[in-house]
Amino acid sequence: MIEYRNLRVALLGAGSVGSQVASLLLEHRDELANRVGAGLDLVGVAVRDMDAARDADIPKELLTTDAESLILGSDIVVELIGGLEPARTHILNAINSGADVITANKALLATHGPELFEAAGQVGAQLYYEAAVGGAIPIIRPLRDSLAGDRVQRILGIVNGTTNFILDLMDREGESLEQALKTAQDLGYAEADPTADVEGYDAAQKAAILASLAFHSTVPLESVYREGITGITHEQVVKARRAGFVIKLLAICERLTGPEGQDGVSVRVHPALIPDAHPLAAVHGANNAVFLEAEAAGNLMFYGAGAGGIETASAVLGDVVSAARRHVAGGPGVAESAHANLPVLPIDAVTTRYQITLAVLDRPGVLATIATEFSEHGVSVEAVEQHAAEVRPGAASTATLVIGTHEATESSLAATVAALKASDVVSSVESVLRVEGL
Ligand code: NDP
Ligand code: HSE
Repeated sequence: MIEYRNLRVALLGAGSVGSQVASLLLEHRDELANRVGAGLDLVGVAVRDMDAARDADIPKELLTTDAESLILGSDIVVELIGGLEPARTHILNAINSGADVITANKALLATHGPELFEAAGQVGAQLYYEAAVGGAIPIIRPLRDSLAGDRVQRILGIVNGTTNFILDLMDREGESLEQALKTAQDLGYAEADPTADVEGYDAAQKAAILASLAFHSTVPLESVYREGITGITHEQVVKARRAGFVIKLLAICERLTGPEGQDGVSVRVHPALIPDAHPLAAVHGANNAVFLEAEAAGNLMFYGAGAGGIETASAVLGDVVSAARRHVAGGPGVAESAHANLPVLPIDAVTTRYQITLAVLDRPGVLATIATEFSEHGVSVEAVEQHAAEVRPGAASTATLVIGTHEATESSLAATVAALKASDVVSSVESVLRVEGL
């Protein structure tokens, strides 16, 4: 029996995600009303171009270019425009006019999250953003609610579908990075400017959001260390596979102790080798997955579609229902908390394993010289593999050395690599990859 008044839902944006949200809200109206205990009236859909083609049918009379008027008097505002402005201003206006807000805007949250949460907290509004990380995958709510009594130690996430799709095609179909990116763009996975995907900016935004929530701390986007996948070659992918690894672009968020013994966190995005038996190695195509280690819960993995209009709309609708239920039940929204206030430590403080591939002169004593460089910089070698010498007419013959290390700090590894580059016996440092998930 539904007795509560109908709630007014305003939608800002009717692109890939917004058009599907509109369609689901209209199509599942009765079912949603029963789940909420109140009807959800879609009162309008703000767009830029009234005549643009839409992925789903939206009654023409709902469309408007006047987002500001639409926001006023709404109970729930769903922001699916993307980008920083006017999305930020619309969200602040919605909060200040008494509405709850749902957004999927990772760029905005990673850049202006604290300002938006503060504004929501001051008036007791809800600001939900399940779709901002991992598309359809429930990960924000599990971190905020289900794991609120636990202590998250580490997150390893594949949070960008485009780069996972590219690396997977390079691995399984032998495509080049450029070919694979073109296919990802044709399939609609990539951002409008795919630099955001391939250079790791999109994953860095998502890492900042995950780390803020997991560690109850403010993680500014600028503090996230970022490397993309543009330096990854097909040859590296093939060699990794032969050695029992796959290369993935990982978002890594972990608790760390800094060089002076201080508690902190590391938040970083970079390509890494992971063993092919690790659950993340089996994440193919444009799928996303978040592998999480918590003190009491142990290892958990969240997996599914990381992008796509209808898939992402599912997460947005879940937030709409949650916000609407709170309206019916009453009470303020869940406040975000940065009470732990852990500092984000620089990449130099991170300790991990590495795999370094070197082209070296193929002559006696070379291995010993190289081993000395590692030990002088405090990096312990775990394994060395030498591949057949390459003989070029008129040139000294070279061999390829693949060196795996034990855990070492980024700073000692960087110093080792610099010394190797300067060494007479090293022709070139072909690649340096971090190894995660061992
Ligand atoms: P689109 O670019 O497909 O759609 C954007 C929509 O916003 C369009 O309908 C556009 O109108 C409208 N719009 C743009 N500027 C304005 C404005 N000034 N006033 C009113 N409307 C405006 O974006 P997506 O649907 O792909 O993404 C929406 C959000 O969801 C983004 O924050 C994105 O990061 C996030 N997201 C997207 C995923 C995906 O798979 N696509 C996955 C996870 C998150 P018009 O159509 O008239 O041009
Ligand atoms: N371009 C993003 C990706 C879309 O490839 O994951 C989803 O956020």
